[in-house]
Amino acid sequence: MINPRLNSAKIIQKILEEKVFFGDLKKQIPEKDLPFCNMLILTVLRRLTALRQILHGFLNKKIPNKHRLAEYLLISAIAEILYMQTAEYAVINETVKNIRNTCDKFLGGLANAVLRKVCAQKKELLQTAEKISPLPDSFVELLAGYEAAQVRQISASVMQQPPLDITAKGDVAALAQKMKADVLPNGSLRLYDAPKVQQLPEYNAGAWWVQDVAASLPVLAMGDVAGKKVIDLCAAPGGKTAQLCAKGADVTALDISEARLETLRQNMQRLGFDKVKTQAIDALEYLRSAPAQFDAILLDAPCSATGTFRRHPEVLHIKNRQDAVEQAALQKELLELCENVLKVGGILLYSVCSISQIEGERQIDAFLQTHQNYKIVPITAADIGAWHDALILKNGTVRTLPYYAGAQKGMDSFFICKMQRII
Ligand SMILES: C[S@@+](CC[C@H](N)C(=O)[O-])C[C@H]1O[C@@H](n2cnc3c(N)ncnc32)[C@H](O)[C@@H]1O
Repeated sequence: MINPRLNSAKIIQKILEEKVFFGDLKKQIPEKDLPFCNMLILTVLRRLTALRQILHGFLNKKIPNKHRLAEYLLISAIAEILYMQTAEYAVINETVKNIRNTCDKFLGGLANAVLRKVCAQKKELLQTAEKISPLPDSFVELLAGYEAAQVRQISASVMQQPPLDITAKGDVAALAQKMKADVLPNGSLRLYDAPKVQQLPEYNAGAWWVQDVAASLPVLAMGDVAGKKVIDLCAAPGGKTAQLCAKGADVTALDISEARLETLRQNMQRLGFDKVKTQAIDALEYLRSAPAQFDAILLDAPCSATGTFRRHPEVLHIKNRQDAVEQAALQKELLELCENVLKVGGILLYSVCSISQIEGERQIDAFLQTHQNYKIVPITAADIGAWHDALILKNGTVRTLPYYAGAQKGMDSFFICKMQRII
């Protein structure tokens, strides 16, 4: 059986080199190793820029390409020594053994020397690390359009451990009391030190689902959809579909991925939303064939997901401006086709969990310039709750940022725009 340190280093290598989400690799970790591996991998991903710089400061030359796994083992070991409370001798012994077994003896010796120096200089290295931005240059490039002070706060929020946010189906106050949770201005519940979700009250009764507070705002912004025919174009795993069902909408949920749609179906079953119609299809194809007309569309579009770095710090390293540009092209195509299925007077709600303005503010500016048949319907505090942070922009669209503290401990970054088809 693979030891957890070696397993973690291999997973980190796969995430960074093959640009895979950590969530898609978790099944490679045995249940008993999950707490340790999870903590180690997330610590490395949050602090990768500093850990790399520290390691390279101790190396006279690059580790050969064929032995890159040794680099990930060393970075993980430095993360453990500096930020986790594991015994130093255990970290050194096992890392050296792993490097000897998977790379070569010479690198094993080098690892031993480097890690002993790290232990000896721990205090100074911790101070140095604090001064290094956790944002790689490729991510800073994605933040074009934000002010320097905003970028500094975005950078500081990388180290924030995200809390657990919950959307309740029924009586929010009663559930909050049972869970000992805070109630946020939009009605989300927030837990700061939660056990496994299945152990929380009323999970099996389907009284609630996990959803970042920012992710709950798009459907809140749609207003009253009770009895309306609504299509959720990119729906899985279904957090927003569930909100639409809870509001009494007649929902059709599409997703390009059958596997993800199956997760959505299971989620809807647990929550007792059994009327939702589902179809595994490319939304572009569906919109082109225009089989039905709807009162409202939710386009929670595929995007770079760069607004979710608190929960998925790998996006800091595996996503760049090119990803935002490519996703923006797909979003534009989806937006343009929406009128094929939207009634005149109907609502088009566009949202992305991207921090890049290319997929948010700029996308909608360009869309409205060429689509005079739509107007923005300003989102108000009555829709999404009264926050002391500046969520609502001047034109009535919404931009949430990870450091917004109205929800103490932040929120994901979303861009949300509500539009009405006027002709
Ligand atoms: C941001 S996630 C949606 C999250 C979802 N709305 C929720 O609240 O749980 C984007 C989804 O779009 C799906 N997707 C990507 N490209 C698509 C396409 N061309 N047509 C339909 N779905 C697509 C992905 O499979 C993914 O499930």
